[in-house]
Amino acid sequence: MSNEKKLAGEAAIRFVEDGAIVGVGTGSTVAYFIEALGAVSDRIKGAVSSSEQSTALLKKHGIEVLDLNTTGELTLYVDGADECDPHKRLIKGGGAALTREKIIAEASGKFVCIIDSSKQVDVLGKFPLPIEVIPMARSLVGREIVRRGGHPVWRDGVVTDNGNWVIDVHGWQITDPVALEADLNQIPGIVTVGLFARRGADVVLVGDREI
Ligand code: 5RP
Repeated sequence: MSNEKKLAGEAAIRFVEDGAIVGVGTGSTVAYFIEALGAVSDRIKGAVSSSEQSTALLKKHGIEVLDLNTTGELTLYVDGADECDPHKRLIKGGGAALTREKIIAEASGKFVCIIDSSKQVDVLGKFPLPIEVIPMARSLVGREIVRRGGHPVWRDGVVTDNGNWVIDVHGWQITDPVALEADLNQIPGIVTVGLFARRGADVVLVGDREI
């Protein structure tokens, strides 16, 4: 699978336009993209990063990291995913970077998602759905998830770059991800739901193959 991740990371370079500020996600597949981006760093203006982890990698590869508040809209966002359905709707957040990832995806004209074939599913939900929560709301959110038939598991010990906690929801077959994303977004204390359904990917690369 890591060869497919590498192929996908490298294939995404073809979407990078000269002079661009590139939105960059987080994870092991994105690490290959950052490495490839480093090789063409002289033809981009810089990057907006979705995590402290990616910021460190970008800097290591000589890429300037810019603040989204100063860049305006981005043309391109490249990120991985934990699951991808046939409609390019995603589960993300396995690396706990979902909030900044969702912000950058929303701010970008084109979201290119880079995955290996193990991430392709017919129905989202086998991978536990990550939800970032304000720490004091953990139990409240957990009860709301149970009411909806899910099994919440606190990712104990993990603190996000935003100082929050993550709950992973097991046991959901997510047949209507747009509706579930909207429903969960109403619960006080939820910062971000790791469903990228309302704003899914525009392009998905499985290895170097576009689907
Ligand atoms: C991080 C993410 C990642 O994109 C997702 O976990 C996939 O990671 P990897 O490329 O390492 O398989 O959403 O929050």
